[in-house]
Amino acid sequence: MKKITVSAPGKIMLMGEHAVVYGYPCIVTAVSERMTVTLEESDEMILPPGDTRFIEIILEMMQVSMMKISTNGFSSGYGLGSSSAITVSLVKALSEYIGKKLNKKQIFDIAYKAVLKVQGKGSGFDVAAAIWGGTLYFVTGGKVIEPLHIKEMPLVVGYTGVKADTVSLIQNVAEKMEKESEKMQRIYDAIGKLVDDAKIQMLVGDWGRVGKFMNYNQEYLRDLGVSTPLLEQLISSSISAGAYGAKLSGAGGGDCMITLGDNNDIKKAIQDAGGAVLDIKTNAEGVRVE
Ligand code: MEV
Repeated sequence: MKKITVSAPGKIMLMGEHAVVYGYPCIVTAVSERMTVTLEESDEMILPPGDTRFIEIILEMMQVSMMKISTNGFSSGYGLGSSSAITVSLVKALSEYIGKKLNKKQIFDIAYKAVLKVQGKGSGFDVAAAIWGGTLYFVTGGKVIEPLHIKEMPLVVGYTGVKADTVSLIQNVAEKMEKESEKMQRIYDAIGKLVDDAKIQMLVGDWGRVGKFMNYNQEYLRDLGVSTPLLEQLISSSISAGAYGAKLSGAGGGDCMITLGDNNDIKKAIQDAGGAVLDIKTNAEGVRVE
């Protein structure tokens, strides 16, 4: 019986969230946590339990009607991009299964379209990370997808334990954009500049400088209204414990924060401030057949 398993990594946004929805760049790294999708021959459609909106859209787009699909991997609670990793794995698995090879950009276009259909808005950075892997400089909708060859980053990921609602956070920011467009434009311009500066320093491994840029990025995210008291607590505690810099990662409202500077004092500070430290490696491999 025909069977295929494909896996793709989750992601951590390093810098540039929210601004990247509006035409600016961001930097994202693929993480060691992976989602797998297994396809098996079947004479009926069997979907995995849970939210299958992304899967159903892909099946419709790729005109597949009979298949057993199962998924496995990390919890969707962390905000590490489980939906985009599943979507990308499924597109790749279907293309291999039906013998129609797709290149990375073709997989991106199909998976990004599915994400937009479900979420309405989104930059596609998480889809790109799941496909290309590594660390990417990415501009809205995949206008630029540039792999960055950087050394292993001293990064700690702290989890708030609070599930963020990405779609409503993007919506809140979009409403602000309508009401205070000049102010928001200034914030996005500044974030875009920070991302470009951080990219240069990441390539040479100057973590002190990158940390400073992360702190500035966090100030702008606070201005956008997407930080929370708990995120702020984890961020300030890790900086007091010696981190080069720290910021929320992703849409805000909960999920994860990141600190640059990896040692036990920083990890303990995050835990003492009420967070959990996730054991995650960066720069992971992109989508692959298992
Ligand atoms: C969410 O993880 C990051 C946002 O920039 C949305 C997106 O880029 O799709 C808020």
